Amino acid sequence: MYSSLSGHGSQRPTRAEAGGVRKTPFNGIGCQRVARMRKAFTRQRARRDEFGFFLMWLRRPRRLGAIVPSGRALSRAMAASIDPEAPGVVVELGGGTGSITRAILRAGVAPQDLIVVEREAKLCKVIARHYPGVRVLCADARELKPLLDNAGIGPVKAVVSSLPLVAMVKDDCSQILAAAFAVLAPGGEFLQFTYSPAAPVPQQMRDKLGLQGIRSQWVLSNLPPAAVWRYRRWSETIRRAA
Ligand SMILES: C[S@@+](CC[C@H](N)C(=O)[O-])C[C@H]1O[C@@H](n2cnc3c(N)ncnc32)[C@H](O)[C@@H]1O
Repeated sequence: MYSSLSGHGSQRPTRAEAGGVRKTPFNGIGCQRVARMRKAFTRQRARRDEFGFFLMWLRRPRRLGAIVPSGRALSRAMAASIDPEAPGVVVELGGGTGSITRAILRAGVAPQDLIVVEREAKLCKVIARHYPGVRVLCADARELKPLLDNAGIGPVKAVVSSLPLVAMVKDDCSQILAAAFAVLAPGGEFLQFTYSPAAPVPQQMRDKLGLQGIRSQWVLSNLPPAAVWRYRRWSETIRRAA
């Protein structure tokens, strides 16, 4: 069967159709070259997303929290404490352009087991386009509990957050943490990175919410250098990764 024609009235099949070969832009090009072209295309797309993120940051710096997306090493460090084999889903808060989303998937979490909550509609579209199968909820992280309940999502084994907690109004920060621990299954962890040398969750808030935290890693190669923090309920011990 011929594919739909270009509208010029011609009924002649293309050479690819006649030979039964699907016509693609890569036909007749060696595998290595195709791989190189794909890589270049991916890099170009990543740069475009980063630039778009930067433009959004120029308009609303406080809403985005960072001037550029999280670097690769930081994204890997954030994903490192997730056990892909453990039951339950992973929730990412503040997906941005998807750097950490990619690292979580690369760490072995299946796309259908990853839920990204992002407030900016444009960034939600970027993530949904790049990571098919991942569920993207375009919403405010403060609404996490009703969001997941209404969608029938759970249990949650980890919440991975890029939210600018340090820059947030204290009430918002506290509300987000309370929401995260309301959905986290027993033993579940809240992972947060920060550019600050201080803990992203202040002591008073930790005590009020019954949380303990450890700085599990510094990622000095990130620009700016960042620290990864892991939080759990007081009643559960945090084991450091070996
Ligand atoms: C530091 S940036 C994300 C960096 C991300 N890891 C990346 O590589 O692009 C923080 C993100 O959190 C989102 N955000 C901030 N407050 C939010 C909230 N209350 N609910 C959902 N998303 C929020 C921002 O829109 C922004 O995309």
